[in-house]
Amino acid sequence: MKSYLPVLNNISRELRNGRSIYDGYIRGWGIQFGDLREQVRKDPLYKQALALSSGRTVVSEDNRINIFLILRFFLDQIGGGDIIEFGSYRGGNAIFMAHIVGELYPGTRVYALDTFSGMPATNPKIDAHQQGDFGGVDLNELRRFSAANGLYNLEFVEGLFEDTAQSVLKRAQNIALAHIDCDIYSSVAYSYEVVKAHMTGGGYIVFDDATVSSCLGATEVVESILIRRDGLNSEQIFPQFVFRSGLNQARP
Ligand SMILES: C[S@@+](CC[C@H](N)C(=O)[O-])C[C@H]1O[C@@H](n2cnc3c(N)ncnc32)[C@H](O)[C@@H]1O
Repeated sequence: MKSYLPVLNNISRELRNGRSIYDGYIRGWGIQFGDLREQVRKDPLYKQALALSSGRTVVSEDNRINIFLILRFFLDQIGGGDIIEFGSYRGGNAIFMAHIVGELYPGTRVYALDTFSGMPATNPKIDAHQQGDFGGVDLNELRRFSAANGLYNLEFVEGLFEDTAQSVLKRAQNIALAHIDCDIYSSVAYSYEVVKAHMTGGGYIVFDDATVSSCLGATEVVESILIRRDGLNSEQIFPQFVFRSGLNQARP
């Protein structure tokens, strides 16, 4: 299918401070002010993936559309890699991503990490969520659903990230897209720290909730660790924060 991304002739395509300003504008501006949301809603691949994930995700439509655009039009520019999601809850967004990459990039795997029994202990000094939030997931049903729909590239990994992520990352390919969707300071910080060294050059680190009003812990990780400590600039702040890993090395 032909690309329906907007063309912005007035924007430079040069990289700037470790991100592609042009790519950030076409996705973010395209969704917020252009007609990209409508274009994506009509895309048959998006429609199929959305139908499979129906009723199983709390990811907002704009965030999902942005992830779709990255997978559909940008991932092939960085030479591939696997996908990891930190925080999968009922599995809907992982299913959504697995269907898309299954169609577009055979060999790419999606790892979906969660306790599948709710949030671990949270810190009331910064987090609004509480231990046990997002509990009650039927992981066996989720695995059966995924197999019944042929999503053999999708693996649900049960347990605390702190206990599971390192071994997953050891056996995975480099990570082309990390979707960090776990709401609380300690988990968001851990996810970023553990995945950083495993990213493909130019890979996408997407924070689902760092601009969400109920997740100031996630916001603080972006502010204090990515921006202040690591000196990163974001490629997008709408509809969610997107950072690129090692982009200067990947595409000089
Ligand atoms: C907002 S939900 C994820 C939503 C999901 N991506 C979707 O498609 O709807 C956040 C999830 O993060 C998980 N989580 C948070 N911290 C965790 C940790 N340290 N280890 C494992 N899971 C964690 C919670 O159990 C919860 O299910």
